[in-house]
Order: sequence, then structure tokens, then C-alpha cells
Amino acid sequence: MSNQMWGGRFAAGPSAIMEEINASIGFDKRLYAQDIQGSKAHAAMLAATGIISAEDADKINAGLDTILSEVEAGTFDFKTELEDIHLNIEARLTELIGPAAGRLHTARSRNDQVATDFKLFVRDAIDGIDAGLVDLQTALAEKALAHASVIMPGFTHLQTAQPVTFGHHLLAYVEMIGRDRGRFADARKRLNESPLGAAALAGTAFPIDRDMTATALGFDRPAANSLDAVSDRDFALETLATASILAVHLSRFAEEIVVWASAPFGFVTLSDAFTTGSSIMPQKRNPDAAELIRAKTGRIIGALHTLMTVMKGLPLAYSKDMQEDKEPVFDALDTLALAVAAMTGMVRDMEPVAKAMRKAAAEGYSTATDLADWLVRELGLPFREAHHVTGTLVARAEAARMPLHRLPLAHMQAVDARITDAVYSVLSVQASVRSRTSYGGTAPTNVRKQARRWLRMLERQSKTAG
Ligand code: ARG
Repeated sequence: MSNQMWGGRFAAGPSAIMEEINASIGFDKRLYAQDIQGSKAHAAMLAATGIISAEDADKINAGLDTILSEVEAGTFDFKTELEDIHLNIEARLTELIGPAAGRLHTARSRNDQVATDFKLFVRDAIDGIDAGLVDLQTALAEKALAHASVIMPGFTHLQTAQPVTFGHHLLAYVEMIGRDRGRFADARKRLNESPLGAAALAGTAFPIDRDMTATALGFDRPAANSLDAVSDRDFALETLATASILAVHLSRFAEEIVVWASAPFGFVTLSDAFTTGSSIMPQKRNPDAAELIRAKTGRIIGALHTLMTVMKGLPLAYSKDMQEDKEPVFDALDTLALAVAAMTGMVRDMEPVAKAMRKAAAEGYSTATDLADWLVRELGLPFREAHHVTGTLVARAEAARMPLHRLPLAHMQAVDARITDAVYSVLSVQASVRSRTSYGGTAPTNVRKQARRWLRMLERQSKTAG
């Protein structure tokens, strides 16, 4: 039997293999709500413009409501031979309301229909992820405020560099995620033009009202070029690119958590809720959630790679290749939402081990820069010379196997006679972090101010979103 929806010019039906490669219903059934929403807006517009009768529009509307409740009740019978979500819904509508169903597809094509459905889906997903990111930023900023003066080593090259505060480190991620949210907001803004009414590719001769459907679906305006409207998938690419950058940020943090939670570091403890034990080594607590967040980045970047590759050779306008856009996007956005939620839970439960962090912060001559700065400030040495003198002092301290603040004044004065015992006031890790009050610096006063600024902003945002 030929396809009941488009089989007019076909004598025979597709082979079983053709049906299998052609069908997308297995995954695009997920677009049912968006498809119904789009069809309702389209039917209302067709009636308002006199293209179909009000009675037919009412029947279509009621039929679509029935279908929505059938899908949601799990009683809708999805059929592979009907290819995709659009044809499945239209066929069921025909069963329910008869010939009026056949009028719904006037001045429309599956090409503008699928672009519309998919945009609505991606837009919802962006909104969901943004809400998750507000929670994550809030968890980070709260933790940062609570531990604004907990001292840890700051690293470059993963070598102890200068002491920083744990709160400051956490707020770095709040900033990164803030930029990720900005990228999602930009993508959402560019996405928000309605493809509906572009029809197959060239527009339509029916007197449709594209502004009306655009408004009904929450779009800012109709897309201005019908060819572009049905062949644009850069909204999905941009979302995946943004998702990939966010995933990279989450992965870097996950990596740090794995390192911090390891026994040699012992900087943080993770809760039972986000770790697992080993089946053979009873002492172990593994940071699985962090490891999985780190690993899932591969899937998300993979999705971007997949869709870029799908799109790169396609002439305008629609090609069936574009049906391959959905699975990577669904998977990447699901994965990302889960990773964000897991990271949020992990951060909420994570506790710094202040003693271990502070001990590590004091190692590796982390206040050497403070010493050099003191020589510049108090003795008027040029920074390069101060750097050299400090280097010599570090070498002496190292040879004597002691930290800088234990090096006797006589040893210091042997290197530079002008050094006084006032120097010891800058050699502790607390003095070091406390002194770094430059804008954006790690001083606890700065960290508290920044954490509070973020928390105020985030509270406003979660209120306006909720
Ligand atoms: N299932 C198709 C997709 O996801 C819908 C559009 C089909 N259009 C067409 N002309 N065959 O892309």
C-alpha cells in the first residue's frame, strides 16, 4: 500500500528498509506538544483569514486537543509507516474529525512545520537550562559567601602560585556560567523568528497572516525569507555551540573537584549523595558525578560536530538530511540539563577542608610575590630587582628547608641589608589574600561583595522567571 498521506502518485509502498531509514517517529514523537501548538495557531489563522471555515477550524482545534490528551495518557498509537510526528497527528486527526482534517495542511508544508516545532522545542529547552543555571550560580555564590575567607592555593600550571580564597575560586565559575547564560539568551533572541507560513520553500499564494501565527507562538516576528526559514538550522547549531562551551566549563570544574576530593589533596569532601563506593576497596569514595559530568562533555561536543557535518553540504532549501538534526540536539540538551542538575547538587553538598587547603596554600613559597611587592613598596626597588632578590631569598629558604616567614632576618639582610622585620607582616597567607583588594582580586572583602551582588541579581532573575 502506498503512503496514505502523500502516496497519490505512488503505485506501491516503500520497502521495509526504506520505511526504517525514512521514519523519524521513534524520536520526533517528542515534538508532539509543539506540533499541536503550531497546528492550532495555523488553523486559527486560516479561519481568521477566511481560508477555511470557522466550523472546520473548531473541529480541527477540538481534534487536536483530543490527540494531545491521548498522547499524554499514553494511548496514542504512533505508527512507523506514518513516518513522523506531523503525519501521525494528521492521520489521527482525520480519523477523529473526517475531511475537515484535510484542510489543516492548507498553505503549510512539513518543511515549515518541522522548523517551527523544532524551534519551539529548542526555545523551551534553553529556558529550562537557564533556570537550572540560575540554581547552579546560586549554589556557587552561596558557598562562596559562606567560605569567602577560606584560603586555598591558587595555581598556574597546577603549581602553587599565590594564595587565593575558596570563595573567589567558586565565583570564577559563577562568572563563566553568567557568560554561558548570555550566549543562550543571544541564541534564543536570534532563534525567535517564526518559520510558519514559509510553506515548502517559496511561500504561498493563500492570503495567510504570518504575523498572527508568529505572535500566537511567542515569536518576535515571522522569518523574512521563506527559503531561509525552512533551511535554517543555525538556531540548533548555535544552541549546541553554546551548550558545548558550557559543558567545557562544567568539565573543568568537575576535573577540579576530582582533584580536590582525591586523598593527596583532600581539599573538599563530597556527600554520599553524589559519590559511590568501590566494590573491592572499602575505604573508597569515588567522585562519580564529577567524572560523568566531565565525560558527558564529549557527547555534547559530539552533537555539535554531528549537526555541523550534516548541514555543511546542503543546498537550499529543505533536504531530508535535516531530519538528522533532532537526535543529537535532544541528547545534548538532555545530557546538559542532567549535568547542570548534578553539578548543582554536588556544589550544595561540597564542604571545603579549610585546614588542608590552608596548609597547601602556605607551601611552595606562595607569598614570594608579596615579598617582592614589599621590596618595591617599602624599599623603592624596581620590580625586576625585587624579583631577583626574592628569588635569592626563596633559594636560601629552600636550602634551609623552611618557609619564607621562618627565614631569620639576619639571613634576609645578608641578601639585602635594607630589609627590616616589617617584612614578616606580608609573608603569611592571610596577609597575602587580605591585601589583594584590587577590583576583581581575591581579598575576602571583595569576595563577599561580589557574592552578595550575584545573589541579589540571581534572586531577581529567579523571581522574574518563576
Ligand atoms: N520528518 C521530517 C524532518 O524531520 C519532516 C519534514 C519532512 N519534509 C519533507 N519534505 N519530507 O525533517
